[in-house]
Amino acid sequence: MLTSSMPEDSPLQSQTPDSLMLFGFWYRALPSDKLGRGKMDTITLLEQPLVIGRDQSGKAFALRDACPHRGMPLSCGHFDGQQIECSYHGWKFDAHSGQCQLIPSLVPEQTLKIDRIYAGSYECEERDDFIWVFIPDLGPSGAGFTKRAAAPTSAPEIPKFSEHYKLAYLTADLPCSVDHGIIGLMDPAHGPFVHQAWWWRSQKSIHEKHKNFEPIPYGFRMSAHTPSSNSAPYKLLRLYADADSITTTIDFVLPNLRSEIIRAGKYWFSSLTTVTPITRNHCRIDVVAAWNLFRWFPFGPELLKFVFAKFVEQDRRTMELQSEGLKHNPHLMLIDDADRPAKWYFGLKNAMFEMKKNGGEFKHPITSPVTLRWRS
Ligand code: FES
Ligand SMILES: [Fe+2]
Repeated sequence: MLTSSMPEDSPLQSQTPDSLMLFGFWYRALPSDKLGRGKMDTITLLEQPLVIGRDQSGKAFALRDACPHRGMPLSCGHFDGQQIECSYHGWKFDAHSGQCQLIPSLVPEQTLKIDRIYAGSYECEERDDFIWVFIPDLGPSGAGFTKRAAAPTSAPEIPKFSEHYKLAYLTADLPCSVDHGIIGLMDPAHGPFVHQAWWWRSQKSIHEKHKNFEPIPYGFRMSAHTPSSNSAPYKLLRLYADADSITTTIDFVLPNLRSEIIRAGKYWFSSLTTVTPITRNHCRIDVVAAWNLFRWFPFGPELLKFVFAKFVEQDRRTMELQSEGLKHNPHLMLIDDADRPAKWYFGLKNAMFEMKKNGGEFKHPITSPVTLRWRS
């Protein structure tokens, strides 16, 4: 008889390679410093082609990269810093609202109400050095003859705990579905194998861990605790901050947000990592961190960036190799307890799809706090 501790067939099976993507959320599109004033760039998010730009005053915008007339990519057109002129028949659109402002072929007697025509447009906000775009549930907002609907929330922000802080980001493309990207991110068991380094940890340092998890809206939290004593950076941090304890909180919230907050006395480090679906089998990881640690320490930020870059590169390389193995759709499994967060992720995602489809309450897959145990 099968017991509950047997590995279960992974929900990855049914989701590979056509991973279902979650619409109706904010997604990171592009680092702010990659887009100058009066410039446009193209990007794909959740299989949707977008043209992203920044107007003369510095405000970012995002439009569906297809003219509502005959589908010519608007990115092929001319942007004067305010309006985009389509390269095919010269229709002009307001960059922010997508509203049509000019159709050159019309003669004065032709009374077509051009202000009722819209290029598809997306809500766009800039937060913590990134441009975020709201990808609505039903196709692009606007497009055709409707105005864009407003996003229900504003874009996520990194929690900060003092007035002055530093900010840095890292980004990497991952050749796998967003699901593999996300469960790779929350997977505790790969650490000693993928992220080995003499100054971090080795396979020899593997030991049993107990971590407390609790449900939070649309996600789960690994509750505050003193982080692994087996890593040198944490030991250093405790000395440096002259703090009795260091607390870490790691949250995962749908659709793709992992936030980690480390606090030691008056010092803090806060990061928001996202894994964004580009296409069904391609995603991008963006780590943005804010901190007030090491403010007086000459090479602090560089050191931190170096450490993070190393981790992200190790994960990226691992997923690149994994994607080779996934090409032929092998059998996969999720085991307890190390893969329980991954199971929760699929549970949360299903609950979200269920709620979107049938309405009603969000049926949270985690009903009460749980302690998970694993060796890493
Ligand atoms: S396709 Fe854009 S103006 Fe005709
Ligand atoms: Fe990792």
